[in-house]
Amino acid sequence: MTEELAFRGFEYAPAPESRSIVRLEDAYGLFVGGRWREPAETYTTISPASEEPLAQVGQAGPEDVGAAVAAAREAFAGQWSALRPAERAKYLYRIARLLQERAREFAVLESLNGGKPIKESRDVDLPLAAAHFFYYAGWADKLEYAFPNRRPRPIGVAGQIIPWNFPLLMLAWKIAPALAAGNTVVLKPAETTPLTALLFCDVLRQAELPRGVVNIVTGDGRTGAALVSHPDVDKIAFTGSTEVGKAIQRELAGTGKGLTLELGGKAANIVFDDAPLDQAVEGIVNGIFFNQGHVCCAGSRLLVQESIQQPLIDKLKRRLGTLRVGDPLDKNTDVGAINSAAQLQRIEELVAAGEQEGAEIYQPPCRLPEQGYWFAPTVFTNVAQSHRIAQEEIFGPVLSALTFRTPEEAVEKANNTAYGLSAGVWTEKGSRILWTAQRLRAGVVWANTFNRFDPTSPFGGYKESGFGREGGLHGLEPYLRFDGDATEWGG
Ligand code: NAI
Ligand code: MG
Repeated sequence: MTEELAFRGFEYAPAPESRSIVRLEDAYGLFVGGRWREPAETYTTISPASEEPLAQVGQAGPEDVGAAVAAAREAFAGQWSALRPAERAKYLYRIARLLQERAREFAVLESLNGGKPIKESRDVDLPLAAAHFFYYAGWADKLEYAFPNRRPRPIGVAGQIIPWNFPLLMLAWKIAPALAAGNTVVLKPAETTPLTALLFCDVLRQAELPRGVVNIVTGDGRTGAALVSHPDVDKIAFTGSTEVGKAIQRELAGTGKGLTLELGGKAANIVFDDAPLDQAVEGIVNGIFFNQGHVCCAGSRLLVQESIQQPLIDKLKRRLGTLRVGDPLDKNTDVGAINSAAQLQRIEELVAAGEQEGAEIYQPPCRLPEQGYWFAPTVFTNVAQSHRIAQEEIFGPVLSALTFRTPEEAVEKANNTAYGLSAGVWTEKGSRILWTAQRLRAGVVWANTFNRFDPTSPFGGYKESGFGREGGLHGLEPYLRFDGDATEWGG
């Protein structure tokens, strides 16, 4: 206890990133055919850290969505699909470089509108978003080599629906491969985080991307549903909740439209008794408190070998006390604001369920701001497999810790979930890493690290975490059709 108090004795001076680099409009239209279109309705987007209104944005209706799809179709048929691949690449390179040039502006806006710490939007979201455009720019004129003897051709118009946890990064994951493959797109950002997607339209203007190749329609789930059901969309790419993903799959069944789904997760982070504990603690913290735990591949289930449970949990609790929760624009902040009132309510409900079901809760003493949406970093111990907090995605800064005795038990518990997006393994032994990774039903397995991303590496799930891969060569495939192909590639 005295040690903890001593720690809190260090005070950080505030280190706020200036907001002045961002120029907000009072109201934004919909980006359709390279022009701003007046939306049928509007709503107010806020900063979740302060509840301060930031701007009015459009709630696109079916007619707006129809206009965006028509613009995308025209651009596809008119010139984009026939453009020399090296020319397509040129635009993608321009976009990548412009994102780098304007990185600070985008990072500040991302943190302002979404609540994530500036050090994360600055050091993770922006560099990775630019890297995705660079990476897929490189493939645009090499598709014949990427898929030899397959005669790859673009699909047409892609409808893309993205969530609020990595707004600009998910935009990059969706738009970069689609354009590299020669498609045009209509993208719908999440309702709580539309602003970086709208600022991205200015990057498209600077890059002189032909009109209609990228269209951005803001709005809530109704706008997404209109995009999904539009008859002239050839493919839907969705990232979000399993619930909505399932509804989209039902809706598209039998239509012949392509579909990829990247849904939720409940990843196991497995720590064996030979793991370096201090490093593992950093990995656990990064696994669940990065981006407030609003991460589909978050390491939300800690599986720790019984013999090291006590020392590991003690170290973890001590580390939690040093996390700085607060202003997303402060450069020292580790844990920012919860993205919305609705998400905060979901977290609170699941945490209450955890307590009711008998798990033991720990939260370090920390003062949360009065305004805005906040949740203290939380660890549950004494968690049973059957508890809701061990089964359901919380999507917040809440870790559920379970124990295991043997490697077999670790694998069995790790796989005992409806999801299968990611997992982590901490051990000194390479052979044990391989043994475990081979048995985990998860799209990505990290070894002695967690939440690392790279555009060259495919990402995607098993089971209720969805299907299809984003990133890498695999990420191009859902945006291509192959003439005269007998066998499906990948799988
Ligand atoms: P959501 O799935 O409702 O929202 C994701 C996107 O889908 C948003 O752009 C939304 O406007 C759109 N959408 C909503 N309903 C739609 C519909 N009927 N048709 C087409 N598009 C639709 O997710 P929500 O409600 O924001 O979060 C609920 C839970 O989902 C979270 O607590 C978390 O567990 C999970 N989630 C997982 C994400 C991931 O990265 N895999 C991202 C966001 C949420
Ligand atoms: Mg929803």
